[in-house]
Amino acid sequence: MIWKLPFNLKKTKKLTQAVKERPIPKHIAIIMDGNGRWAKARQLPRVAGHRQGVEVLRDIISICSELGVNHLSLFAFSTENWNRPDDEINALMSLMVEFLQKEIAELHEKGVKIWMLGDIKGLPEAAAREVENAKAVTRNNKGLQVNIAINYGSRTEIIRAVQNIARDVSIGKIAINDINEDCFSHYLYTNGIPDPDLLIRTSGEFRLSNFLLYQCAYTEFLFTEKQLLWPDFNKQKLLESIFEYQNRSRRFGGIIE
Ligand code: IPE
Ligand code: IPE
Ligand code: MG
Repeated sequence: MIWKLPFNLKKTKKLTQAVKERPIPKHIAIIMDGNGRWAKARQLPRVAGHRQGVEVLRDIISICSELGVNHLSLFAFSTENWNRPDDEINALMSLMVEFLQKEIAELHEKGVKIWMLGDIKGLPEAAAREVENAKAVTRNNKGLQVNIAINYGSRTEIIRAVQNIARDVSIGKIAINDINEDCFSHYLYTNGIPDPDLLIRTSGEFRLSNFLLYQCAYTEFLFTEKQLLWPDFNKQKLLESIFEYQNRSRRFGGIIE
């Protein structure tokens, strides 16, 4: 990783202990990037990278759950990803369906609650059905909430919020003076979800690619080196990321004595 880890914390067990002793981020957002390059490096089709990427998810969800993280937001498919070839889009949707079908029972058992960020109406029927089912099954769970961003774009989210606010003003449901940050946040897909404390993007791309633009005003960003592609991410890397986060000084515009 790009930061320095003390030598005595190189082992996962020790690092887990160290991380648990300090405040755990309540909300971690991840831009899981680099699946295609991972596959290309192995002369495999891009979908092999996506498949391996899904494997990593299982471990990441389980460690977040164990650490007591409240929200894990995963960027799985952006509104711009529709620009990819049809066969890749279909493969990504099928992988999502397969993941939910295979994992839902275990996730439910762990108390994980599945939520979706994005426009479900734009999804193929099978994917929409599976997401709705996962949400319904895990609705009352109190553990980690996994927010899967599919067909998600931050600009669309903001414009949709503005339209809905305008509509509510026009029918007298809210007054113009009621519109403030708190009110606005209720109109976003992330309604009720606190802003991310930590955002991780793998594969050395230093951009947000239309993910949670409004919500990340004070989020700590962690961009990995380009050699670390999502299919190679793991528990240890997540712990290292949290350790790095715990050593940052968040000031929110104020000062720390
Ligand atoms: C991220 O990996 C997964 C999705 C966008 C769905 P990519 O498919 O973007 O992989 P690279 O960036 O081409 O390596
Ligand atoms: C962002 O990655 C979207 C997801 C990880 C789902 P992209 O690979 O699509 O982003 P760009 O095109 O490199 O900005
Ligand atoms: Mg990419």
